[in-house]
Amino acid sequence: MDTMTNDQVIAGLDVGSSRVTTVLGRRTQDGVEILGMGECPTDGMRKGAVVNVDATVKSIRQSITEAERMTGLTVGSVFVGISGPLIKSFNSHAAISVKNEHEVTDADFSRVLEIARTVELPNDREILHVLTQEFIVDDMAGIKDPRGMTGIRLDARVHVVTNDVPGARNLARCVEKADFDVESFVLSPLASAEAVLTPEEREVGVALMDFGGGTVEMVIFHNGALRHTYVLPLGGGNITSDVAIGLKLPQSDAEILKVSSGCAMIQKVRRDELVELPGVGGRLPRPIRRQYLSEIIEPRAEEILTLLRKEILRSGYEENLGAGVVLTGGGSKLDGLTDLGERVFKLPFRRGNPIGIGGLVEVVNGPAFATGVGLVQYGAKASERIYRPSESEAGGGMIDRFKRYLSEYF
Ligand SMILES: Nc1ncnc2c1ncn2[C@@H]1O[C@H](COP(=O)(O)OP(=O)(O)OP(=O)(O)O)[C@@H](O)[C@H]1O
Ligand SMILES: [Mg+2]
Repeated sequence: MDTMTNDQVIAGLDVGSSRVTTVLGRRTQDGVEILGMGECPTDGMRKGAVVNVDATVKSIRQSITEAERMTGLTVGSVFVGISGPLIKSFNSHAAISVKNEHEVTDADFSRVLEIARTVELPNDREILHVLTQEFIVDDMAGIKDPRGMTGIRLDARVHVVTNDVPGARNLARCVEKADFDVESFVLSPLASAEAVLTPEEREVGVALMDFGGGTVEMVIFHNGALRHTYVLPLGGGNITSDVAIGLKLPQSDAEILKVSSGCAMIQKVRRDELVELPGVGGRLPRPIRRQYLSEIIEPRAEEILTLLRKEILRSGYEENLGAGVVLTGGGSKLDGLTDLGERVFKLPFRRGNPIGIGGLVEVVNGPAFATGVGLVQYGAKASERIYRPSESEAGGGMIDRFKRYLSEYF
């Protein structure tokens, strides 16, 4: 029978601008088995940053406790998603000459990557991830693992993601105050990508947009590797605010109306469709044209998508998105958003739900669970690396840890 211990449980904690979601799972032979989840609304976070410690601690505790109750398990440490407009990333590279009879050794491999990640950072920034893109041996590009190859010169190209130290420290403190340990921080959209993208999409090129309450997080993959990261400080909350102002409604009513009847594309709504506008201050509810609601939503959704498109143009990857755009996150559920996206980008759009999981899949079904599920999947890969170290990892210390980062996408 089942001999699962708490050590095998992987906990993903997504502390979002609107909700804190906990997903519990474990690694199986062919992926991840979902064991349960917990969620709790929060107003302790704004755009990826802690703005109210007590509220955040409370939501974290409640969300994890709910997941513990559902599964009967005890959570010790968690993989925590981290995001926000203060996330910055850049591509870096390094080159070395191959000494040992011109065959690339483990030592060369580690050395070139160590140099590629050695970049000067201001005191308030730290490295979150170093993701290998490719190696080049002499003139041969696109190599995923250069060890054992023959050449004179070895080049490494990596994508370095950095975050701000105070922001990460605040979030870590909240998790610790809730009595849990941070196993590792993971860039939230990288976790979402883990959950919703296929390897083929990453190969031919794809932009993943995680449409949250306060932000839209974007990561671009091409040739199987992460190429570009960006966090836009606008999200579904801005759409709700526009509805509240436009229709003179409280935020909570505007949110309900947006979720039940909102549409991001005016054209998609029939002229005769009516929706019920909640009555405020004792007034009776009254019907309004759904198109009128759309006239408020579409311009804001279009603005958000246009800003993301500009960022893609700036990244230089617009010609490398053969698989188009995948939209995920709670905000991606907005009716008509993929249609609007296709109009703005002239690229194929699809919605992304978590894939590649077993167990209680129905409790984490839906794009709002992408980050939580992805954190468990990420954690499962990390634990695989820890439990089954390769022979070449006998070096110790920093390099070992670094190699774990490196195998993230190979
Ligand atoms: N059915 C729906 N239609 C439209 N919008 C929706 C729907 N369901 C949820 N949303 C919106 O999704 C947003 C929340 O998404 P999500 O839970 O992914 O955010 P978050 O992770 O808490 O925030 P962030 O990622 O910005 O920190 C809210 O703005 C909410 O209004
Ligand atoms: Mg989110």
